[in-house]
Amino acid sequence: MNPTADDLRSRINPSAVPRHVAVIMDGNGRWAQERGLDRLEGHRVGIGSIRRLVEACRELGVEVLTLYAFSTENWKRPRREVRGLMRLLAEYLREETPRLAEHDVRLRVLGDLEGLPVSARREVRRAVQATAAGRRATLNLALNYGGRAEILRAAVTAVREAAAGRLDPASLDEQTFAGLLDTAGLPDPDLLIRTGGEIRVSNFLLWQLAYTEFWFTPVYWPDFDREHFFRAVLDYQQRRRRFGALEPGD
Ligand code: FPP
Repeated sequence: MNPTADDLRSRINPSAVPRHVAVIMDGNGRWAQERGLDRLEGHRVGIGSIRRLVEACRELGVEVLTLYAFSTENWKRPRREVRGLMRLLAEYLREETPRLAEHDVRLRVLGDLEGLPVSARREVRRAVQATAAGRRATLNLALNYGGRAEILRAAVTAVREAAAGRLDPASLDEQTFAGLLDTAGLPDPDLLIRTGGEIRVSNFLLWQLAYTEFWFTPVYWPDFDREHFFRAVLDYQQRRRRFGALEPGD
């Protein structure tokens, strides 16, 4: 018999849980199309998967969860789908903010917020403010986000700071540069999960994924549940992370 989610959960080593999990939530459109539904229905059901995952992360004590919710490339989708996604984002934030605050979770945004429609921006700012005191965990929503654009923005900031005499270019090291990225102050992801069957990073967290363990699944995002997540964490716990070094005895 297949193990249940609770069986899998009981096999997880609580002292080796990933601190930071990042997720590329792919397959909403295909999930809907295969059921003869509008693509937006896939995104709507995908919000349920977000809720389940936030809850499962809380259960395990994951400190940071980063979700790729809208990429800089997603603007190329039909206007109707983009508008629908923005509406779902606003709905999600309105409904979820009290629950996040209650569970001591801080919401943060990665990406260029200025590029979002005014109404979505307002909801995001409101949710970020309302959860700012959260200390137990961080939920990052990557919105209008692209890894290259993020690195470029940080580079522009560094150049400006140097030109203003506030930064010595000779002292610019990886740690200082990381502090200029949208993820400033957060640990790099330990585990990246991508659903939907594609095996690529799609311009997500290009700097931060340097030593991250990747876990890919063909499961479409709306079907991703607690059991899949626990499998990903168990797989992660089997990996030997050497960060470029040798293991003792090698
Ligand atoms: C990819 O599915 C998913 C997205 C473009 C965004 C993820 C969005 C949600 C889970 C719902 C909205 C939630 C928020 C918080 C904005 P896809 O459409 O690329 O799927 P496909 O590859 O099957 O077409």
